[in-house]
Amino acid sequence: MAIPDILIIGAGAVGSFSAAVMARKQLGTIYLYDIKEDLSIGRALDINQASPYLYTDTRVIGCNSFEEVPGADVVVITAGHARHAGMTRLDLLNKNIAVADGLGNTIMARFPRAKVLIVTNPVDVLAWFLKNRWPDMNVFGLGCSLDTMRFRYFIAEEVGGSVDCARGMVIGTHNDDMIPLVNHATVGGVPMRHLLSEDAIEKIVSRTRSAGTTITQKLKEHSGYYAAAHVVTQIVESIVFNRLGTFPLSVYCRGEYGYDNICLALPSVVGSDGIKRVLEIDLDDREHIALNVCASAMTEITRSIQ
Ligand code: 2OP
Repeated sequence: MAIPDILIIGAGAVGSFSAAVMARKQLGTIYLYDIKEDLSIGRALDINQASPYLYTDTRVIGCNSFEEVPGADVVVITAGHARHAGMTRLDLLNKNIAVADGLGNTIMARFPRAKVLIVTNPVDVLAWFLKNRWPDMNVFGLGCSLDTMRFRYFIAEEVGGSVDCARGMVIGTHNDDMIPLVNHATVGGVPMRHLLSEDAIEKIVSRTRSAGTTITQKLKEHSGYYAAAHVVTQIVESIVFNRLGTFPLSVYCRGEYGYDNICLALPSVVGSDGIKRVLEIDLDDREHIALNVCASAMTEITRSIQ
């Protein structure tokens, strides 16, 4: 199999950590681009100098121009303005739409067949923006994939067991409306509801919803990046090795769960062609109502952009 070319746009914390984790996992040749002169070059040098420790010959190539990138099977967009303490993800909307607009033109001109994973916030809106503007772009967003990792981690903590056994998913939108699917969560195959009290479950849900904000309040100047880099890598791994992993990615709905022309984070099987299918899972009435809340908010935002 040809070695995949992976382009990461944005050498900030999420982009450069993702490059480092991907290099460690030897996913392909990694091009790390940033508009800021020298930033990506310095980051790449630093990451590559860890290669003797990691026993890997995978290289990260820092670049300041897309001319330096010969091709891209996968593009990961992390570029954009970061969320500071006190800001919501939506505060970033206008600034980051302008960034996504410029990048969309470049991607379609230079890498039209790439699978494009957008990570920049507000991620579900930006995924919609790119797909709406360039219908041929094979684009999807990180959605609630990071929230899902957090949910699993908090379940494991509450149960006092391994995260390996804690399974579950968060869907909807990557903001305070997100829906941790407590009815579907399991620990070692046993429904979480059989193991934990209603209070304990409520605590998990609340910690999951506020996890990103809690980190941002502590870091002040930027949001979390370590867990994000790992989940981004897991998704890219599923693409380059056609692993067909399931993640709640932001997908452009064409009838899924009854929604059209908006992006929602829904359980998506992802492989070498991008999203292979969206899994329809049984939602109870409360979950349906919660998904409607996410969908209505998305519809309203998309109308304000058009
Ligand atoms: C987070 O949840 C920044 O949205 C990102 O940490």
